[in-house]
Amino acid sequence: MADAPEVLFEITSAHLNTGLRGVPVGTTRTSAVHPDRGVSYVGYPIAELADKDPEEVVYLLLERELPTADQVLRFKTNLRSRGGVDPRVFDLLRKLPRDAHPMEWLEIGLVALGMFSKVGDFAEDALNVIAWAPELVAGIFRIRSGWGDPIPGRPELGLVENFVHMLSVPGGDPARLARLLRVFYVLHLDHGGGNLSTFTGKAVASGHADMFASLTGAMCALSGPLHGRANQDGLAFVKKIGTADPDEVEHFVRAELARGGKIFGFGHAVLRAEDPRATIEYALGEQICPDDPLFQTARTLRSVAVKVLREYEKVSNPYPNVDAVSGSLLHAMGLTDPSTYTVLFGLARISGIAAQIVDERVNARGGRGVPLYRPRYIAVGQPPRG
Ligand code: MLT
Repeated sequence: MADAPEVLFEITSAHLNTGLRGVPVGTTRTSAVHPDRGVSYVGYPIAELADKDPEEVVYLLLERELPTADQVLRFKTNLRSRGGVDPRVFDLLRKLPRDAHPMEWLEIGLVALGMFSKVGDFAEDALNVIAWAPELVAGIFRIRSGWGDPIPGRPELGLVENFVHMLSVPGGDPARLARLLRVFYVLHLDHGGGNLSTFTGKAVASGHADMFASLTGAMCALSGPLHGRANQDGLAFVKKIGTADPDEVEHFVRAELARGGKIFGFGHAVLRAEDPRATIEYALGEQICPDDPLFQTARTLRSVAVKVLREYEKVSNPYPNVDAVSGSLLHAMGLTDPSTYTVLFGLARISGIAAQIVDERVNARGGRGVPLYRPRYIAVGQPPRG
């Protein structure tokens, strides 16, 4: 007789209508989020991966082992061999209103990419989208911002350096921007199986919609202010503070809380300590833009907000998350339109979600894949009327 399944979690009526918060629904092999230690990818703490080549870390998520020098070389060649974005995608994007949110551009771009170029095989489409997303996102930045036409890629530069080349931020410093974006990309790749965008992507894929449709659903989920758009709002908050003076920042934070406002970039659904991704970003900021006024405000806020939030018993996590400082760093590197920050988060998360979708569709349950998502909702307020 088979062993009785282990009881992982007792579901009670108190769990209903709580957004599945903490309710186990599946397994994931790419990353884990520990409340105190934060995220690790395939067992490696994020701090050990932050300075690696982005392609090495994407390989880790896809293959669940770090590549040898030879394996990473072959992986890079594989990505390069996949060509670029179908130009009809950019023709379509040129017709979009410039004042639409760039996440809407990304969502439409992904649908278009799938429409023109999908293969219909999760593993192949994952590699294609990982290879093409930097060109798609760079094209979105250039067309939407009026910087000019998309710039042909130089894939031999590497995924992130090529992205920076294709962006060609007017007046930007490509070397410093690449230094930030390499780390930013690695930090934002994956965050456990149950974050909203990843969960949404896997749910869409469970109905056997293709990789591009699934990632579009995921990016729609990421665009919400409680999820990926928090980095945009985090910068707006830092800008609104307008000073790095500790007393003034404390006064501002207390006033915000007193009027029921939110301290953006602090707290997290799972974490109960400072997000190690934030710790890495603060340290990087000290190297690349220590004198930037917004970074200085973010630095002061790091200690002041924690001190004040700790006074609130109801606050389970008073610590900064990744969104507390990423906007300030991007701004300091010349990316001054905060509405684009979630797209940069999405550029990285596309790879992580694609890796999780492949694992769930192609490898899980001995290759059969996880069945169609179909949780049960308890019908209420519907007395029989017939
Ligand atoms: C994150 O990266 O922090 C997330 O996607 C949010 C989460 O883990 O729920």
